[in-house]
Amino acid sequence: MTQSFQGPKGTFDLLPPDSELWLHVREAMAAPLRTAGYGYIETPVFEDTALFERGVGESTDVVSKEMYSFVTRGDDRVTLRPEGTAGVVRSAVQHRLYAGQLPVKLWYSGSFFRYERPQAGRYRHFSQVGAEALGLDDPALDAELVALGVRAFADLGLREVRLLMNSLGDATCRPVYRARLQEFLRSLDLDAETRRRVELNPLRVLDDKRPEVQAQLADAPVVADSLCDACRAHYAAVRGHLADLGVDWAEAPRLVRGLDYYTRTTFEFQHDGLGAQSAVGGGGRYDGLSEDVGGPPMPGIGWALGVDRTVLAMRAEGVEAPVSSRCDVYAVPLGAEAKRRLLVLVDELRRSGIAADLAFGDRGLKGAMKGADRSGARLAVVVGDRDLETGVGQLKDLATGEQVAVPLDDVVAVIREKLT
Ligand code: HAM
Repeated sequence: MTQSFQGPKGTFDLLPPDSELWLHVREAMAAPLRTAGYGYIETPVFEDTALFERGVGESTDVVSKEMYSFVTRGDDRVTLRPEGTAGVVRSAVQHRLYAGQLPVKLWYSGSFFRYERPQAGRYRHFSQVGAEALGLDDPALDAELVALGVRAFADLGLREVRLLMNSLGDATCRPVYRARLQEFLRSLDLDAETRRRVELNPLRVLDDKRPEVQAQLADAPVVADSLCDACRAHYAAVRGHLADLGVDWAEAPRLVRGLDYYTRTTFEFQHDGLGAQSAVGGGGRYDGLSEDVGGPPMPGIGWALGVDRTVLAMRAEGVEAPVSSRCDVYAVPLGAEAKRRLLVLVDELRRSGIAADLAFGDRGLKGAMKGADRSGARLAVVVGDRDLETGVGQLKDLATGEQVAVPLDDVVAVIREKLT
């Protein structure tokens, strides 16, 4: 027997009709961005491995444990993108977008790859919609972007998404905080691996989920106490703008993120219906990222919302997604000539904006009518070869069973009237 295949571990296939929901979520996330001046950007799904090493940070789990990296036939080191921001910044630098009107506002939608331990809501191939605003460090831009994320979830009908916010400081004050935190963490009773992390990436230790670690962190210094005046003022302005915009959030003094490029405003959208994790989206400022990847100074802020986790959240809240009818009219030909005529009729219907399908496969009346019911169509047009002589077919209302004879020449107009 020849080998049969399964999709790779940690991935899933999106099949109709469920796939409609993913399309709907992506569209709802993009819609607020498009009305706010964000232009669509598409970058490759693989980039130079060094871009992520330098941009996302070598001490992060994402870079050190989760990247799909390989050497190409041409000896280039490339990685399937684990996130979108580094590629967008690389593209903005390469194309000198910073030399034009600022901010440069961009949005994207696509596949991302992380070699994670798969579980509900955590996949190796997942989907994000993201937004990045580049070139300015205006706190109003932080507030605008956060509010656009809030809008996306609200437009999807989600009521239980929480917004958590923190400021992580900048190149001036973060090192001071890092040193204070390190000093505190070195005094704790931690395993060897965590002690290594204290030296490499102490902020990540705050995110350790193990109760025995959390129990020791109650008195850990918080970054808010170390912010410099400029960061303090920036954060106060962001909060003021968010209040003006009527956005609710909770202060999360311990919120740190899994990627190293963040500065100042950082935030996460959380939800309780996602299995073992809670982040349905997240983002923040990354004012040094461009320089980290060899570009000019170009501050930026962005977020990415997880499409798959948003679907989980919608299911957990029982949010009904609008079901778009895939088929309004189902055509049933009985005979070869009738099929030729109805294939043309179906094409005419589609061109006039009516979703239509045909019983392919030369089924008998019974089988074809079963197909009509399954299609979800409201109307069926049944035409036999003999009807072509009289030029009259049968139009059946699939909900009521009512059937009327309709001249084939008028059938598009009659259907249109019945469907409106
Ligand atoms: P992130 O927090 O790593 O940020 O990912 C954003 C969202 O993607 C998460 O909140 C989650 O919903 C979803 N996500 C991440 N990993 C997985 C996974 N393995 N399976 C399913 N969903 C997942 C970023 O990626 C940043 N680039 C966001 C950003 C843009 N920051 C600034 N600009």
